[in-house]
Amino acid sequence: MLYALCFTLTKGKTMFARFRRRRLNPVLRDLLTETTLSVNDFIYPLFIRSGEGIKNEVASMPGVFQMSIDEAIKECDVLKELGIKSIILFGIPDTKDSVGSDAMCEHGIMASAVREIKAAHPDMFVTTDLCFCEYTDHGHCGVLDPVLETVDNDITLKNLGLQAVVHAKAGVDMIAPSGMMDGMITAIREALDNAGFAHIPIMSYSTKFASAYYGPFRDVAESAPSFGDRRSYQMNPANRTEAIHESIEDEKEGADILMVKPALAYLDIIRDVRENTKLPLAVYNVSGEYSMLKMAGKAGVIDYERVMMETLLAFKRAGADIIITYHAKEAAEILAKA
Ligand code: PBG
Ligand code: ZN
Repeated sequence: MLYALCFTLTKGKTMFARFRRRRLNPVLRDLLTETTLSVNDFIYPLFIRSGEGIKNEVASMPGVFQMSIDEAIKECDVLKELGIKSIILFGIPDTKDSVGSDAMCEHGIMASAVREIKAAHPDMFVTTDLCFCEYTDHGHCGVLDPVLETVDNDITLKNLGLQAVVHAKAGVDMIAPSGMMDGMITAIREALDNAGFAHIPIMSYSTKFASAYYGPFRDVAESAPSFGDRRSYQMNPANRTEAIHESIEDEKEGADILMVKPALAYLDIIRDVRENTKLPLAVYNVSGEYSMLKMAGKAGVIDYERVMMETLLAFKRAGADIIITYHAKEAAEILAKA
């Protein structure tokens, strides 16, 4: 109606036809949609601690919980009901020490969680975050060099290999090293292959920035560094060329999937990495990004659901294949209705 009217009024000379005639009909809009979101795109993070019947909500991340293994097993039923088939696990150990021993122990929190979750849900695709910051008493992502007062790269590589094999023996489906150590993919691949786990893929946190957006995560995972920061191993947010270089280096070392983290403030980097590799690309929609939307929604400042879906779509449009996100359950519900 409106369309016809406009044409009559301007005798066919209107510019209105140029883009807008493709936008008038909702079916045509669907036909012309370039980017789509699917529940298959999501990996949902779970935070596991020891005990039974524990499900602690974290104040800085409403809707996100620390859970005991039994509760995580129940949560997997909920996730599968929503069509979510993939989780990434973070462990919160009972005891921390200078090297993060719990992470390398077959009876540690992570190994136990993987074993029990896979036993209850063989069809759930379980990835583990591979790092030491949750397990060390100093909160850094590896063993400390006393002189440099930061993480000793090469000793940490050996421990990452040990940790990876512990996860693999427990039955993990994929390993995601997040510590930004140089050479970590070579070291982990070698350790896995030598232990008979050549079939386990590595999703590298290949381009990970030293970001203030991780703040709420460190409350949930109890992993804030007790001194200093992570800027001697995580990337400078100002660097774009180096961001590509980091991911390409991990590809050369044998990573199967690359990652950009955080996601929202780094959409340009997602596109840059996308255009420089043929590997699949994941993004981590991190804790601070989640909490900003949650809190703004709760304050009535934004339409939470619409802003969430628009944000997730933006990651796909920028070039992501996989989205690790705390929004996964809410987004899956919306996608199921659409
Ligand atoms: C551990 C790790 C962190 C995140 C994922 N793995 C925290 C950090 O590097 O301090 C952050 C995830 C989030 O903020 O949601 N190295
Ligand atoms: Zn870490």
